[in-house]
Amino acid sequence: MTVSAYDLTGRPAFVTGAGGGIGRASAVLLAEAGATVHCADRDPQGLHETATLIKDAGGTAHTHHLDVTDRDQLHQAVASCERLDVMAAIAGIMHSSPVLETRDEDLDRVLNVNFKGVLYACQEAARLMLEHRTRGSIITMASGAVDTGGPGLLCYGAAKAAVVQLTKTLATEVGRHGIRVNAVAPGWIRTPMTDRHGEAQERTEALMARMSPLGRVGEPEDIAHAVLYLASDASSFTTGQILRPNGGVAMPW
Ligand SMILES: NC(=O)c1ccc[n+]([C@@H]2O[C@H](COP(=O)([O-])OP(=O)(O)OC[C@H]3O[C@@H](n4cnc5c(N)ncnc54)[C@H](O)[C@@H]3O)[C@@H](O)[C@H]2O)c1
Repeated sequence: MTVSAYDLTGRPAFVTGAGGGIGRASAVLLAEAGATVHCADRDPQGLHETATLIKDAGGTAHTHHLDVTDRDQLHQAVASCERLDVMAAIAGIMHSSPVLETRDEDLDRVLNVNFKGVLYACQEAARLMLEHRTRGSIITMASGAVDTGGPGLLCYGAAKAAVVQLTKTLATEVGRHGIRVNAVAPGWIRTPMTDRHGEAQERTEALMARMSPLGRVGEPEDIAHAVLYLASDASSFTTGQILRPNGGVAMPW
């Protein structure tokens, strides 16, 4: 196998959360590798910016303005692709509240986006891949929070733990059809989600860089490369796995 194993020329890839952060970086990199990228997000401006980045670099992008918690919207968008080789279910939200202050509506909102939104994307992609006998790759976005827990992370971590379970379970169910399912569990990555602005941001980034043996914080492109690896034939014997690009950080709590 050569580096051409990373070539996605002619392969349609669907990316949720493509309007910003890790999803945008992944969509751009998949397009650079030759994929036709279907960018989905609830943020129309972010979607437009991502598609423009891809097209300006000579790639092919389509946009789908949708909410991943709406199963029908996801169904219509994925069905319009006709064929899919890659699904990267990246859309997610952050929520922080101590266990004793967590309300039902917090839990429902976070589980809806971070777990059900990923589940719907996986289901739609797997059905289409099975229908067309595509030996595709499905990638979910978990989090280092699954390993560490952490103050305030009950809702977020519970949803991400469910994503890990979904990933491993689906991998066992569709593997015999040649479909691979893997998760990426990033550490702290500099994106709009983690932006605390100003001094608070500088303090957080300095702390995260000190905690990493590599001495720096993660960038969206670091995660996009993990997504590209899992999307491509370079990972053809990898399924049901959790890839942890986290700079070697072990959280201190
Ligand atoms: N940034 C980090 O440190 C980090 C660490 C671990 C895991 N993650 C995960 O990576 C993924 C991407 O995070 P990010 O940091 O790039 O966040 P981000 O906020 O920068 O980007 C998330 C994108 O998802 C979209 N989105 C949110 N809810 C949506 C919905 N209901 N329907 C459609 N689109 C929706 C947003 O509009 C946005 O474009 C998330 O699943 C997040 O939990 C991030």
